[in-house]
Amino acid sequence: MREMMLKLQEAALKAIRESEDAESLEALRVRYLGKKGELTGILRQMGKLSAEERPQMGQLANQLRAELEASIEERRRELNEAKLARKMLQETVDVTLPGETPRLGHKHPMYNALDQIKDIFIALGFTIVDGPEVELSDYNFTKLNIDEGHPSREWTDTFYFDRESRVCLRTQTSPMQVHAMETQPLPIRMIAPGRVYRKDEVDATHSPMFHQIEGMVIDKGVTMSDLKATLNLVVERLYGTGTVTRFRPHHFPFTEPSCEMDIQCHKCGGKGCPTCKGEGWIEILGAGMVHPKVLAGCGIDPDVYSGWAFGMGLERLAMGEYKITDLRLIFENDVRFLEQF
Ligand code: PHE
Repeated sequence: MREMMLKLQEAALKAIRESEDAESLEALRVRYLGKKGELTGILRQMGKLSAEERPQMGQLANQLRAELEASIEERRRELNEAKLARKMLQETVDVTLPGETPRLGHKHPMYNALDQIKDIFIALGFTIVDGPEVELSDYNFTKLNIDEGHPSREWTDTFYFDRESRVCLRTQTSPMQVHAMETQPLPIRMIAPGRVYRKDEVDATHSPMFHQIEGMVIDKGVTMSDLKATLNLVVERLYGTGTVTRFRPHHFPFTEPSCEMDIQCHKCGGKGCPTCKGEGWIEILGAGMVHPKVLAGCGIDPDVYSGWAFGMGLERLAMGEYKITDLRLIFENDVRFLEQF
């Protein structure tokens, strides 16, 4: 019986060591150690042994079972490791392969123009403020000295949210003057870019939504010459040193005196061409000294403080800079257009 067991041991250990995968290893376990396996078969013959031999053979059989189990376990681990190693090898990524270049977009031409303006004003010590597009008509009109009955307050011009005309889409960025004066400590130097809305039909120069940049300075002793000097400097930075400008008297309810600022046409040098519609000049903004009534309404003493403000259309500026002839192109987001910038 001892010989049988030693033979089994030798054969089993060899087979286990040589097994190539988990399935054949399991088959070996069943074959040698299973209920109907070879070791059990040998033990069945224990009855033939003498009383002294029996415990010895029993002990030997137990050792053999333990040894085979350990050997199977070890082979299983080896096979698993080999399998994992094979898998890792198959799944390696060649990091030197060229990747797929993602298609990156870029900034919209109008926001390029805006960033340029922001940089100019930041360099002059202005802060940039942001405000609501849905506005109380108090802020859009009344506090700006635009009383009930003024044509710009009409339903035909302004988008209102309620019958009482209390809430509207702002028609200009000028309410940001009031917000700044009501919330910021003096002195104030700010610009406020953003969307504004008016009931205009869409055409090559009009859109019901467009962008303005508001600017305002409030301090002691601020005069019209500060307004002119600052805006002249900004225009020179935008359009080049030596750009000729002119200020024409105008009327806005919230500034007094008020003006519009023109630049001499950079295309024809003032002779008159299609770009300036034969005028020689291109209007770029409205401006003026902040009206004393507006200052007082925001709790600022007009006898101590004064200030100036301006409002500029952003689309028009970008169109001039990039020679865009139709406003609609700016909003249609056609990549064939956008990719040119
Ligand atoms: N808000 C005016 C407009 O939309 C422009 C403006 C701003 C004029 C500030 C004077 C001062 O036309």
